[in-house]
Amino acid sequence: MLNTTRSKLIISFLSVSLLVGTVSLIVGGQMLYQSVLSETRNRVRQDLNVARLIYDNRVKDIKFSLEMTGVSSDCRPAMAAGDSSALNALLVQVTEQIGLDFAGVIGPDGRILCRIGQCAGPSRRLEGGNSVAELALERRQAVAGTVVLDSATLQAENPELARRATIRPLPIQQPRGIPLVEETAGLAIAAAVPIFQGGSLLGAIYGGTLLNRDQSIVDKIGDTVFKNEVYNGHNLGTATIFFRNLRVSTNVLNEEKQRAIGTYASSEVTQRVLIEGKKWTDRAFVVSDWYITAYEPITDIFNQRVGMLYVGVLEARYSDVRRNAFWVFAGITLAGMVLAIGLGWYLASRIMRPVNQLIQASIEISRGNFSPDIGQICKSDIGLLQKKFLKMTHALQEREQRHKEERESSLLQSEKQASVGKLAAGVAHEINNPLTAVLTFTHLILRRKDLAGEVRKDLETIARQTERVRKIVKGLLDFSRQTRINPEPINLNRLLRDCVRLMQNQALIRGIALEFDREENLPVLLLDRSQFQSVIINMVINALDAMEPGGKIHIESRGAKSGDADGVEVIVRDTGTGIRPEDMEHLFDPFFTTKEVGKGTGLGLAVSAGIIERHGGTISVQSEVGEGATFIIWLPLEPDGLCCPLDCVAA
Ligand SMILES: Nc1ncnc2c1ncn2[C@@H]1O[C@H](COP(=O)(O)OP(=O)(O)OP(=O)(O)O)[C@@H](O)[C@H]1O
Ligand SMILES: [Mg+2]
Repeated sequence: MLNTTRSKLIISFLSVSLLVGTVSLIVGGQMLYQSVLSETRNRVRQDLNVARLIYDNRVKDIKFSLEMTGVSSDCRPAMAAGDSSALNALLVQVTEQIGLDFAGVIGPDGRILCRIGQCAGPSRRLEGGNSVAELALERRQAVAGTVVLDSATLQAENPELARRATIRPLPIQQPRGIPLVEETAGLAIAAAVPIFQGGSLLGAIYGGTLLNRDQSIVDKIGDTVFKNEVYNGHNLGTATIFFRNLRVSTNVLNEEKQRAIGTYASSEVTQRVLIEGKKWTDRAFVVSDWYITAYEPITDIFNQRVGMLYVGVLEARYSDVRRNAFWVFAGITLAGMVLAIGLGWYLASRIMRPVNQLIQASIEISRGNFSPDIGQICKSDIGLLQKKFLKMTHALQEREQRHKEERESSLLQSEKQASVGKLAAGVAHEINNPLTAVLTFTHLILRRKDLAGEVRKDLETIARQTERVRKIVKGLLDFSRQTRINPEPINLNRLLRDCVRLMQNQALIRGIALEFDREENLPVLLLDRSQFQSVIINMVINALDAMEPGGKIHIESRGAKSGDADGVEVIVRDTGTGIRPEDMEHLFDPFFTTKEVGKGTGLGLAVSAGIIERHGGTISVQSEVGEGATFIIWLPLEPDGLCCPLDCVAA
């Protein structure tokens, strides 16, 4: 089944489409995923820049608002006079304006003049300093940026802030070997603006926002950058502000769909970003999912790395792209395979139809029908095969016709010979006895001495002519004798050499050359010596009769095939008169002779043909008038049981 042309074609098509499909599945899918991944990394990198801009803008906004408050008409007089209620009013105004968590005014000596706070009493409100304000006083210029506020400072600013800042870390991605310690300090963005009057420093106004649990910046990033897109129930884009490596402000959700505040960044990210101060753009495991992420360090106003800013895009979305691409490719491959099967089937049917017709036609031919139907001639290569096949059937037809004719003619010849032989046998038998009597009595009379000269002469004529009749009768008997041949192993070359020796003198007398050319080591043949010898001698005599002095007779022996059968050829070629075309078909007829009356009986070749036939061989002749004649005898090496077809006739 698998060996049929159809299966082979289908399997070839199938293998090619499977190979191409699999390669494109692997290579194409991988290329697609890689390009999407690199595209996403670029996008996340840009998103981080936008996030940084939003973060920095918040810092700038605070600084700008405080500067505006500082240059307002009420500020300097209130500061110069130490009017805390006026200053308080200013601070409340700016706090409400831009939403500050803490704000205050300090004098040039660093003493707190005024501080806003929800539950702070007047005495406590003035305790403790603020590092941003102190730095602004020290540098005598505005300071803005990220700042770490310890628990005491937060407590002093507003006890509520201290509570908000306190974060109990969760044991998710907890750094190895580091115990979970409650975080009480806070990460804040703050600004402080020094206030001068006539060149002398009056103090500084400061304010800021605590980032712990404040989601405004991360939500703004989520809103601006990722449009709060959700993928499979998760935020597609996430942003986080880390205080050191702890999430203090984030829109990444944990498994309970709560913001994952209190969880840690992975140790690889912490090492690279927080400790080494480098950026990170790669996939990272964030809380409960893989994200394509970008991190960068956050430095405080003293240029210390105190936290990290992060944005990330859910990797699942891009894995899904890869999975979808896989299924699309797999679908295409499958479709290609189905197509390959269909195409293979169709092509095989198209190719095989004429081939099958040719196979059927050859079966027909083997059954003897030489005009089988091979269908329409195709335009393809198969058409060429069909044409050749047709040519072959025509040739076979012609050969078969020729063989038929030959068989018929040989049958006719045999029948002719058989009937003539039968007749001849009867006639010869009847004639022989009276003829013997005539001859005997003629010779008896011829012994008498008293015969007149004329009578004797007539009697001698009778004896001569009767002798001639006897010779003819003997020929007839030879022709009709149908004696079984007595085969014996014969060295053909030796037999031919003997014939040549026998005829050599006669040839010499007539001035004709008789040559013998042999192929050495011919196989031994089974022949009736005397009958075969008579065949050769008749041929040599015929050739001698057809030639003038100076001619040449050439006898040759050689191995030769007839069809598939091995055999030996004897060729007798002469340079005589040749045979007229109209005589050719009668050569082997009994009594056909062109020789003058009394010279030939016309039985030589007829008898020879019978002998050769009984040896299982063939005899043929080629001749051109004036060019001589060539007789070819072919004898098989292994005759099909030496036969004597005329035996039956004789019987
Ligand atoms: N080599 C030859 N060249 C020319 N004609 C030939 C040759 N061999 C045979 N023939 C012709 O074939 C005829 C028949 O030959 P075949 O041997 O049968 O009879 P024949 O020679 O005439 O008489 P027979 O052999 O009985 O004495 C010959 O008379 C001759 O015309
Ligand atoms: Mg003869």
